[in-house]
This record gives sequence, C-alpha cells and structure tokens, in this order.
Amino acid sequence: MPTVQVPLGNRSYEIQVGNRLIASLGERCRRLKIGTRCAVITDANVGAKYGEAAVKSLKIAGFTPTLITLDAGENTKSLATVQKCYDLLAAHRIERKSFIVALGGGVIGDLAGFVAATYLRGIAFVQVPTTLLAQVDSSVGGKVGVNLKAGKNLVGAFHQPRLVLCDLDTLSTLPDREYRSGLGEVVKYGIIHDASLFQKLEKQMDAVLSRQAATMSAIVARCCAIKAEIVAKDETDNGPRALLNFGHTIGHAIENSIGYGKLLHGEAIAIGHVAAAHLSARRLGLGAEDVGRIRTVLQRSGLPVTLKMPGDKRDRLFAAMRLDKKVQAGEIHFVLAEAIGRTVFGQRVPDAEVNWALDQIKE
Ligand code: NAD
Ligand code: GLY
Repeated sequence: MPTVQVPLGNRSYEIQVGNRLIASLGERCRRLKIGTRCAVITDANVGAKYGEAAVKSLKIAGFTPTLITLDAGENTKSLATVQKCYDLLAAHRIERKSFIVALGGGVIGDLAGFVAATYLRGIAFVQVPTTLLAQVDSSVGGKVGVNLKAGKNLVGAFHQPRLVLCDLDTLSTLPDREYRSGLGEVVKYGIIHDASLFQKLEKQMDAVLSRQAATMSAIVARCCAIKAEIVAKDETDNGPRALLNFGHTIGHAIENSIGYGKLLHGEAIAIGHVAAAHLSARRLGLGAEDVGRIRTVLQRSGLPVTLKMPGDKRDRLFAAMRLDKKVQAGEIHFVLAEAIGRTVFGQRVPDAEVNWALDQIKE
C-alpha cells in the first residue's frame, strides 16, 4: 500500500492510500496512541454510505465514538455548524486526549479540522477524505477553516491531522461531476511539479476516468507526495506553498464572481489553468504546444476550458481578483509555468495582460 510521509517535525504524519481502509480505521487510529473517546464528523451523503463502517471499526478497536452527521454542502462550512459541533462534543464528553475523525470531502475536512483546532485549544484529528479533491489536496497540509458571508475560508487555522487515510473504495460512489472536478487538482500537480505525472494523465486518461484502482492508487499517492513536499518547505504559506495555487487566481475569481456552486471548484480552476497557461506562454515562454496539451488534458477530463464573459462579468472577475489574497500593492500575482512540471510563484502581471488572458478563455 502506498504511504507518503509529511515531514513536519513533531507534527509529522503519514498519508495511507489504499482499499478497504475504513474497515481498519480503528486499528490504524490505535497505533496513534490517542484517547478512547472520539467523534466522527461526516455529512449526510457520506454518513449514509460509510458512517456505520467507520463507527464499527472504531468500536472494535476499543474506542468510544459518537457520530455527528451534518448537512452536505458548502453552507455547512460555517461558524454556526462549528458551534453545533462544540455542543455535541461537550455532550459526548470529548477530552483533551480525545480525537475527531473527519469523514467526507473537503467541506467536512475543513470544518472538522477547524473544530479540532479550536475545541479545548486543540485536539487530535484524523482525515478520512472521500472525494478525489479531498484525497489529493484538502486533507493534506493542515489548512482548516470555515466561510463567512464576506467570503470563503476567512476564518481558519493551521492544524495538521495525525493521519490521513485515502480509502480509494470511496471514490466508486462519488458522483461523476465531483470526480471530474477533483481531476482539475490532479492535473495541477502535473503542471506545477511533475511532467511525467502530466504525461501519465495524457496516456492513461481512460483508466483515470473509469477510476481504475491501480492507476488511481499511484496517482493519488503521487499528488499527495507532491503536496507533502511543498507543505514541508512552507507549512504556513509564506512562499513556495503558493505554487499549489496555479490556476487559482482566475479560478477563485470565477467562482466568486459567478456565485459559488454554479461551477464546482475543479471546474473553475480548470478554466483558470488554461488562462494561466496562456499567460505563462506570453511571459515565460511556455511552448504553444504545451498550452495546447494543458487544454486538451483538461477537456479529456470532462472539464470546461472556456467561460461565457459578457462585459459586466469581466468587470466582476477583475473585482474578485483584486480581493485575492495574492494581491500585493494593487498588483495581481500569478503562479506561472516555465514548462510543464516547472513553475514559479509571485509573478506580477499587468492588468492589460490579465485582460488578454481572459480573451483567450472567452467562449
Ligand atoms: P464536498 O465536501 O462538498 O463534497 C462534494 C459532494 O460529494 C458532497 O455532496 C458530499 O456529500 C459528496 N460526497 C463526498 N464523498 C462522497 C463519496 N465518497 N460518495 C458519494 N458522495 C460523496 O466538496 P469537495 O470538493 O470535496 O471539497 C470542497 C471544499 O474543500 C471547499 O470548501 C474548499 O474550500 C475546500 N478545500 C480546502 C483545501 C485545503 O487545503 N484545506 C483545498 C482545496 C479545497
Ligand atoms: N490548497 C492549497 C494549500 O493547501 O495551500
């Protein structure tokens, strides 16, 4: 079974990638030598499929779990839900040595991780990501948090999990659109850090789309290893961790300006990848052929690569980009590729060129 280490001193942990891992969740948690009481936080969709198996496994291993099932969807990532979780944890007498299991996609991982980061000033948590996006991205690296009305992820913390279990079997029940959205992040890892991963996606897209177990095991593990390497260099996001945001400057602005939920995250960033590829060609000499390869691999993943953009939408996109965390002194910063597999962050791009890049992705 592939395992990936996230080397962060006394906050180091292992990512385990394999099949039937939920059935051995309890056994794997026992090796962490954490307390007996625990809470499994999940959403209604995931809980219905995997909640009972997770709780059963924990009980067999000698733990006393309680199951907290929340509504599915981005709205759950709120301070109101955090408050609800605190009350349920207190009712279950969760203690300093107790732990939380986040069983679900990125919404549950971010929310349950934030609850773990703050309840009793911080308790242990284990990530069991059940979407492709959560397996390759959100469950690794310790960014946890919730949304405010003013914007996404505005309240949060860095709180590393003690263990990440990527059970590939859970991908089999993921709706097709959610799965393809996760591929937007998978393609990103190829672009930012690994030309051979990118080539593998080009060659094995049929196996990827049919969720072939051996192919996906290797791909999920490779993406996690890349994220682990970057997080180990820059845990608190002051430098190279920005590389993980390739395609995200325009992608986030698309999500924000058209309204969250209309496009899934991976769909919005796929369009962002294409815009960033064009900018990379213009500013850093990325080959035209490579721009085409990026567009093609995203299209073959079933992801959008263009956007309808009437004038007012373009204005809103620009306004959203200006709110991006990467804006410094009014200039928008991008992650750009010198080649597929080699990227640089902190690239200042004048508005006129951002406008030109938007022309390239206009439907
Ligand atoms: P999600 O958690 O909302 O899951 C998507 C949908 O799939 C939900 O309806 C969920 O109930 C369902 N689902 C999950 N697993 C399933 C399974 N195995 N079978 C059937 N249905 C299943 O969405 P997501 O895309 O996983 O995560 C998005 C969130 O992740 C956003 O809030 C985003 O901000 C966050 N995120 C965080 C980081 C980070 O570093 N912390 C990185 C990227 C994204
Ligand atoms: N998903 C971006 C990060 O973890 O930094």
